[in-house]
Amino acid sequence: MELSRERTEDWWEVEALYDLCFAPGREALSSYRLRDGIPPVAELCLVARDEAGIVAGAIRYWPVRVGHWPALLLGPVAVHPTHQGEGLGAFLIESTLDRAHGWDRVMLVGDAPYYSRFGFEKLEGVVMPPPTNPDRVLGRELTEGAWEGVAGDVTQWSD
Ligand SMILES: CC(C)(COP(=O)(O)OP(=O)(O)OC[C@H]1O[C@@H](n2cnc3c(N)ncnc32)[C@H](O)[C@@H]1OP(=O)(O)O)[C@@H](O)C(=O)NCCC(=O)NCCS
Repeated sequence: MELSRERTEDWWEVEALYDLCFAPGREALSSYRLRDGIPPVAELCLVARDEAGIVAGAIRYWPVRVGHWPALLLGPVAVHPTHQGEGLGAFLIESTLDRAHGWDRVMLVGDAPYYSRFGFEKLEGVVMPPPTNPDRVLGRELTEGAWEGVAGDVTQWSD
């Protein structure tokens, strides 16, 4: 498996992987409204290709605001069904969190039973645009205490 930063020309291959791995209509999810028109965090968007050069997994991140605090929004992350359960998802998540220098906190909307192994916990008082199940709004600190006292609406990134 070869891991590299996503390049412009990888975009549609990664989109195809996400279309395969997620339910139809994924772009209607509220998390996509936070991404519209905002460039992803390029250094944290990674693509894993197998020995044949086929995209096997990919992860992207966007910057967001929680109240006035900056945060990373992890996702989408997906692994091709033929490679699921091989640890690639964990590898993509851990490698990118290790590289997330300059960021204090990361959040996502996802399944706690999967993400808890990476230290993600339910965020209280952090409100995603509706409709989002609050139990799926999870966060992890990247610097000590970074989520303490942080709450509010999650909104698009602004400088
Ligand atoms: C979720 C996903 C990225 C995990 O990638 P992966 O490479 O298969 O994951 P890993 O090999 O690191 O981990 C596999 C383990 O996670 C578990 N797991 C996978 N998805 C899970 C989920 N939604 N909830 C709970 N556990 C989950 C597997 O059962 C397996 O458990 P085990 O270690 O006890 O055998 C991948 O399954 C995927 O692309 N799924 C479809 C898209 C998706 O749901 N993305 C996440 C959006 S929130």
